[in-house]
Amino acid sequence: MGKKNKILTLIVSLALIVTLIAGCGSNTSTSTSSNTSKDEPVTITYSAGKDSTPATQKLIEAFEKKYPNIKVKFQELPNSTDDQHNSYVTALSAGDSSIDVLAMDIIWTPEFAAADWLLPLDDKFTEEMREKFLPGPVEAVTYNGHVWAVPRFTDAGVLYYRKDIIDTPPKTWDELIQMSKENVGKGGTKYGIVFQGNQYEGLVCDALELIGSNGGSVLEGDKVTINTPQAVAGLQYLIDLVKIAPPGVTTYQEEEARNVFQQGEAIFMRNWPYAWSLVNGDDSPIKGKVGIAPIPKGKNGQAGTPVLGGWNLGISKYSKHPEEAWKFIEFVTSEEGQKITALEGGNLPTIKFLYQDEEVLAKNPYWADFYDAFITAKPRPVSPFYPQMSDSMQINFHKALTGEITAQQAIQNIEKDLNDIIKNEGKK
Ligand code: GLC
Repeated sequence: MGKKNKILTLIVSLALIVTLIAGCGSNTSTSTSSNTSKDEPVTITYSAGKDSTPATQKLIEAFEKKYPNIKVKFQELPNSTDDQHNSYVTALSAGDSSIDVLAMDIIWTPEFAAADWLLPLDDKFTEEMREKFLPGPVEAVTYNGHVWAVPRFTDAGVLYYRKDIIDTPPKTWDELIQMSKENVGKGGTKYGIVFQGNQYEGLVCDALELIGSNGGSVLEGDKVTINTPQAVAGLQYLIDLVKIAPPGVTTYQEEEARNVFQQGEAIFMRNWPYAWSLVNGDDSPIKGKVGIAPIPKGKNGQAGTPVLGGWNLGISKYSKHPEEAWKFIEFVTSEEGQKITALEGGNLPTIKFLYQDEEVLAKNPYWADFYDAFITAKPRPVSPFYPQMSDSMQINFHKALTGEITAQQAIQNIEKDLNDIIKNEGKK
């Protein structure tokens, strides 16, 4: 080869190497993240439970309109929070990268953060943004000094009642039971109350509301406080409610309860705010006949002690599109996004200001009166081991409901399990 040819070969080889390196570089950047060639849309997967309202669909449409370069694939999980939890645990413990944005129940933050499954969002959900939010939900996404998610909506238990049958809602559980007995049969009703009696997280919420509204508690700091006469009496109310409920109530989750109530068969329903827009929907046989009241009180407690629920959006640590995932979270939890959720889904905003928004209040008129109850709703125990604690409560509350054990036995079993969980986990 002549000298000229050698130089030419060198130049061609160098050019090839440069091209290859550049090619590799661009491959890496499309697969591990992020911002994106302007023409090629990125698809992110948003995983959340089934939504019976149009809110999720509307949010995705509005987001995609605003960000034409990001498409959202909705991965619909089952209704129950426990089933959703289990599918996340399976996917995330295997390092599955197919989920970008996760809708997380308020009770999972410590567990998911401790397992290192989430990207910290301290710099994205900034202090300035957090100030516009209700303090309770912000506290619930904070764990070990970091912020792990953004509160999408908050939740608190409420009592729905048929205002065409009952003039004034009951202030106490005793009154509720009495009113049920006196009025059942009126307006086509067959039962006093429907609630969440299945063996799952929803039952824990209902039971804790009864225990709380009767002056009991579960855990204070690290101390298990559940074994008190107040807690036993609170759980006894739940057992008594079974007697004025449909025979299937011990298998009901939120949606089964709502369906029976919406068909006009029950006078009362314990549920979350989302049910309001559905029981008043155009296809609802009881549209316009429904009132809402705070959770009643037991003999020893205070009225209106709802359990704090709610859903937050986080980014999976294994996401290949964290920037796009953040854009979606930012939009859904913005004023604009939360307004869609409030209007279409009837879910309680986590941005304070929206409780003064005229359109939001016109659609959910009771929110103004219930604001204080919503913001003082009582959190469930906050712990990375909450799932184990909840398991024991689910099993024992359910056994008490179905008559296998007494309220006293259920409470004693839970006390023992919770003490064991705290002791064992402390050792790890
Ligand atoms: C609601 C609440 C959630 C709770 C669940 C129980 O979705 O927002 O926090 O765990 O109900 O079924």
